[in-house]
Amino acid sequence: MRAGIARERVEGERRVAATPESVGQLVSLGLDVTIESGAGITAGHSDASFSDAGATVVSSLDVESLDLFAHVRPLTPEFVSRVRPGAITIGLASPAAELPTVQALAERGVTAFALELVPRISRAQSMDALSSQALVAGYRSVIEAATRFPRFFPLYMTAAGTIPPASVLVLGAGVAGLQAIGTAKRLGARVSANDVRPASADEVKSMGGKFITLDLDAKAAEGTGGYARELGQDRAARQRELLTPHVAASDVLITTAAIPGRPAPLLVTTEMVAGMKAGSVVIDLAAETGGNVEGVVAGEDTLVATRAGDGFVTLVGMKDAASAMATDASRLYAKNVANLLALMINDGAVGLDFDDEVIAGACLTHAGRVRHAPTLESMNALEGAR
Ligand code: NAI
Repeated sequence: MRAGIARERVEGERRVAATPESVGQLVSLGLDVTIESGAGITAGHSDASFSDAGATVVSSLDVESLDLFAHVRPLTPEFVSRVRPGAITIGLASPAAELPTVQALAERGVTAFALELVPRISRAQSMDALSSQALVAGYRSVIEAATRFPRFFPLYMTAAGTIPPASVLVLGAGVAGLQAIGTAKRLGARVSANDVRPASADEVKSMGGKFITLDLDAKAAEGTGGYARELGQDRAARQRELLTPHVAASDVLITTAAIPGRPAPLLVTTEMVAGMKAGSVVIDLAAETGGNVEGVVAGEDTLVATRAGDGFVTLVGMKDAASAMATDASRLYAKNVANLLALMINDGAVGLDFDDEVIAGACLTHAGRVRHAPTLESMNALEGAR
């Protein structure tokens, strides 16, 4: 069975879907692995390290000849037209945003696995790329903040005087938020956090953060599967109002709030940013999905004048956060891919057990059909609207 990995083509993407370590795992599953020359360079892996691990390095992948293709970024319809019918693809697919690709995959008879759809159950944790990449992004958000912040994070008592610790506020305490809390804490900051899911309070505390309880109806924010759901307009406005003094008191604000399949909730207005101290830094990890902070631009730093008129707050629209740490992000991602493949490949032969909730849940298209119900609904709605 021939498996292939290409160099990622999306601008700014530095990760790769396989590492020499994961190639070893793929070879032990009985796969014949081919990798495009240069695919690992931006993640720190040379062609030679891949061939030493048992892969064949080629200057250009013959996609039509592959039985399996692993990728990081979602495929394009044009790429899908070169995939052999019946072949397997595995990677991030952004099904809600990439409906034309999903349609192309189904029409071509490709069996596509979307890592975003791996169920959030204990058994599948080692295949959960959303979590592994959010962990990287959460860590990176703090490093980005620290490099822009003109002060120390930790308390320093020096002969020349005492420097107080920075106050870091994290909004949204999922995987990325919890990593941001832990990282800021390790750097010595005073950290507090808020999330609409009441269950997150203990997790925040376990990472060393102080949980900020807001007087909001917690039940209203409870979605399914441990996820939050969108607050109504009134509650969202109330949340912003209640957060205002906490935002004003923080030196560094990191926002990570997300609702699956929906634009990011707006948690912080420009007014709230302007109420922060001069020199403060705001990092919006949700910038690519609409932003938690009003006016944020993904991939750009914006200076917001303080209301006090004494300077600026730097608002950072984080983009490609995980890709910026391509070596470790790829290490985890490639493991996620290999672990999911291990569920379906044995001795070089594919056996798809759709009674297995991980296989059934992660499979986006198979045998000409879109298997993921919400994606199918979106496609039907789009078709109906035409
Ligand atoms: P996410 O990336 O979808 O969202 C980030 C955070 O934003 C969430 O904690 C969410 O509650 C929060 N949020 C949404 N709206 C908000 C608002 N208006 N204000 C403040 N915060 C808001 O979340 P992630 O990291 O994917 O985790 C979501 C759930 O999945 C959690 O319950 C987590 O424990 C669970 N999970 C389970 C895993 C497993 O069992 N394998 C792996 C990873 C996460």
